[in-house]
Amino acid sequence: MNVSASDREMSFWPTPAEVADDLVYWLMEPWHALGDGVRVLEPSAGEGHLVRAIRERLPEAHITAVEPSETRAAALRATPGIEVVQTTLESYLADVTRQATNGPWQPFHLVIMNPPFTLPDRREAWAEHVLACYYHPHLLAPYGVIGAVVPRIVMTGRSKLVQKVRGLLDECGRARACERGAFSDMGAKVSTALIWTQKPYGEAESSGQLDLFSGAAS
Ligand SMILES: C[S@@+](CC[C@H](N)C(=O)[O-])C[C@H]1O[C@@H](n2cnc3c(N)ncnc32)[C@H](O)[C@@H]1O
Repeated sequence: MNVSASDREMSFWPTPAEVADDLVYWLMEPWHALGDGVRVLEPSAGEGHLVRAIRERLPEAHITAVEPSETRAAALRATPGIEVVQTTLESYLADVTRQATNGPWQPFHLVIMNPPFTLPDRREAWAEHVLACYYHPHLLAPYGVIGAVVPRIVMTGRSKLVQKVRGLLDECGRARACERGAFSDMGAKVSTALIWTQKPYGEAESSGQLDLFSGAAS
């Protein structure tokens, strides 16, 4: 597959089907029971490979897909039943803050992402995105989970941001290396890992709809 130079600059590498499926399968099993009450965010949705894997596992979920590229947002709109927001994650999070401050807001139960690994002048954009989602005060519901495909450096890296992500995994989460060459069909020579981390009850906003711990409506 050919990824153009401008797409590369935006760190666009389509999520390979096996990697998307593996991440989603790993994360989805406990959420089926919640049916159409599950709210899922894909905050850097590209052309929707990951979104389609989520839809397959959670056919009734409400899925919001955020993507700044006009062409890729247009491609996402071709996938039925997805709310597409053409913007950056950073602007989207600012909008969530505005919505949550000014009225009712329904947080997400799952954030499933393959963030841009690097962006111009942001060598660890992936870590910034994971941390921005985790620490946003309104984004995640209690016990909400973030799952992500990230560079494998997450397991060993010593930069401040990487250590901060690893701190979340140590507290409540896990990392698992992807197979070598998982992205090679996409033309990307990157070593990757899957991570998940869960927001503790006290640190997240109540969804006002679902108590995920008991599975009952609250
Ligand atoms: C690794 S690709 C994601 C692939 C996607 N999961 C898929 O299934 O096609 C990263 C995506 O992040 C987008 N992106 C770049 N900067 C972003 C930002 N600031 N906020 C959100 N998405 C961004 C890129 O346009 C690109 O589509």
